[in-house]
Amino acid sequence: MKLSRIAIVLIVGAVFVAIGIWVGSTVNVFPTAASAEASSVDRLFGFMLAIATVVFLIVEGGIIYSIIRFRKRKGDESDGAPIHGNTALEITWTTIPAIIVFVLSIYSYQVFVQTRTPGNDAPLQVGVIGAQFKWSFRYPLPADDRPEVTDELREKIRGFMSDPDLHLPVNVPVQANIESLDVIHAFYVPVFRIKEDAIPGRVTTAFFTPSVIGEFQVNCAELCGAGHGAMSLSNRVIIQEQADYDRFIQALYARAYEAATNPRLPEVGRQLFMQYPCANCHANRDLGTTAVLGPDLSDIAVQAAKFAAEGAAQVGPTDENATDSPAANYIRASIVNPNGHIVPGYPANLMPQNYGDPNIMPRDHLEALVNYLLTLGGQ
Ligand code: CUA
Repeated sequence: MKLSRIAIVLIVGAVFVAIGIWVGSTVNVFPTAASAEASSVDRLFGFMLAIATVVFLIVEGGIIYSIIRFRKRKGDESDGAPIHGNTALEITWTTIPAIIVFVLSIYSYQVFVQTRTPGNDAPLQVGVIGAQFKWSFRYPLPADDRPEVTDELREKIRGFMSDPDLHLPVNVPVQANIESLDVIHAFYVPVFRIKEDAIPGRVTTAFFTPSVIGEFQVNCAELCGAGHGAMSLSNRVIIQEQADYDRFIQALYARAYEAATNPRLPEVGRQLFMQYPCANCHANRDLGTTAVLGPDLSDIAVQAAKFAAEGAAQVGPTDENATDSPAANYIRASIVNPNGHIVPGYPANLMPQNYGDPNIMPRDHLEALVNYLLTLGGQ
């Protein structure tokens, strides 16, 4: 009798363990594992899932077995047996979970350390910048030993070495230096199994080695305002062959060089829009800003042409290199003389009145902003 009961317990236990191993090794709730670290996170998760499955079967199985086996039979009015404590059982159910937790904490610590350590001594450094409501990514400057490229120019170029997508070469260890321009965001790339907060005034880091070529999602995992959801839609992680990545960097560098040496390009105005800071009052779909104190500028080129055609105030080019068109002249007027035409529904005197002063806003800045705003709208 006793021996057969032990045999049953052993067989049921073996079945539970087999089910646990099967669940832990086959159930996969994650997307593609696209980094070296992702596989070890997945293995840890599978291990925990296997243990959880066995515990689940023992607990739920015990409950169901007891409900059926020890249910109140018809006509049975007796009390339950007066059981008080079972030292052996209590030691068992304390010891086994303690061992499980101990093993899990050592195992997870190993994985934790692996995901916090660079894959080699000189990982590729990329900047990850969170802002309401968009990510942007900053890339290292490639070498350029032409004599005209001074240190000062290189610093300027560096300011333009960013892109809305995260391009990375496959199988190269990466160090992401994560920053925020406003509130707390969280840089989350599900295929890398990486989630790290972007905290204003601090640089946090994440390490990973992309292992699969393709395009993947980058999310924001911290509720950061009304446009939080948009941060999971507007940017991509693009993992490519080293040669394709190099081509991307060279093209980005060429664009950055253009912008740094040509101060009136729309690209420059785009940066100035955030610096001045137009974004504090104006919504702009292109940059993901949503303020409502001033008119929405997402389609300003179209609006400007309309207002100009209706006879709204205009200010002509500041010099022969400045853009001269009714829309450009209306936008210029709205910056240097904002009360000249107030968009219906908005109060006067809210926009700064001193941008016509070249000491406050240099002419190049003004014209770069005009050229940038002319790109917004329609298409
Ligand atoms: Cu940024 Cu949520």
